[in-house]
This record gives sequence, C-alpha cells and structure tokens, in this order.
Amino acid sequence: MVINGPNLNLLGIREPEYYGNRTYDDLVMSTREAASELGCETEFFQSNHEGDLVDYIQKAYFDHYDGIVINPGAYTHTSVAILDAVKAVKIPTVEVHISDVSSRDDFRQISYIREACIATVMGKGFDGYVDAIRILLEELA
Ligand code: DQA
Repeated sequence: MVINGPNLNLLGIREPEYYGNRTYDDLVMSTREAASELGCETEFFQSNHEGDLVDYIQKAYFDHYDGIVINPGAYTHTSVAILDAVKAVKIPTVEVHISDVSSRDDFRQISYIREACIATVMGKGFDGYVDAIRILLEELA
C-alpha cells in the first residue's frame, strides 16, 4: 500500500525546486511499473485529510497488505494519529520524503511517524518510493 498525504496531488505544480516537475500520476505510473518489475503489486492512495490516511493504514491491515510505503507530507511533522495507526497495525512501513527534509526548515526535523517505521528514505525524488519498496521486500524475504 503506497499512501501519500496532503498536497502531494499537486506534484508538478507545487514548489518544483523541492518536488520536481513530474505529476502525481507520473509518480503512480513510474512506481507501479518499477514495483511490478520487482514482482510486487501496489495500490496507491492520496488524501489531503488526516483521518483518510488513518483509514487507509487500517485498510492495509484489514485487507492483509504485506507492507506500507507512506509519505505523510506535512502530517509527518504533526500527526500522532498517523503514528498510532502504524503502531497499531504492525505492518512493516517505510517513511518516504521526496525532498531532503533534513536540510529544510526546523519544523520539518520532527517526524512523529519515524519511530514506527523500519526505514526512512528522503531526498531521492520519486526514486525514493522504489527504494522503499526494495527495503520492504528485503524485510519480508
Ligand atoms: C514532504 C516533506 C514535508 O515536509 C512536506 O510537508 C511535504 C512533502 C516530501 O515529500 O519531501 O508535503 O513529505
């Protein structure tokens, strides 16, 4: 399950200096293709709403998904609810950020979700999602 949080639907429009020029649809297509070459089936979900992201983390549990790749967007830095959801479902989860958040604003240095994730990938653009899937496949092997 590949979950993207707020404003990631605006990829291609928002701050290209951080997120590049390609769109959310490009992200879905290129990640799905790379995942399928790795033998992995993916479902994608994006929402601007915190509770929807929690619902999809829970859906990953109820529908027996093997792993979660999540870019919670700005909720990375604020959401205890998303942290609690990942802790609750105990599904191996990798946190992804398109930009290198470690070199950005102070408020982006906090990640609530990180402690519940097996790894964090940041600053690798769209390729970071494929790296995250590789990490999950290694974990699950
Ligand atoms: C982001 C980084 C966050 O700080 C920001 O709020 C986002 C995107 C990234 O992918 O680099 O929305 O998660």
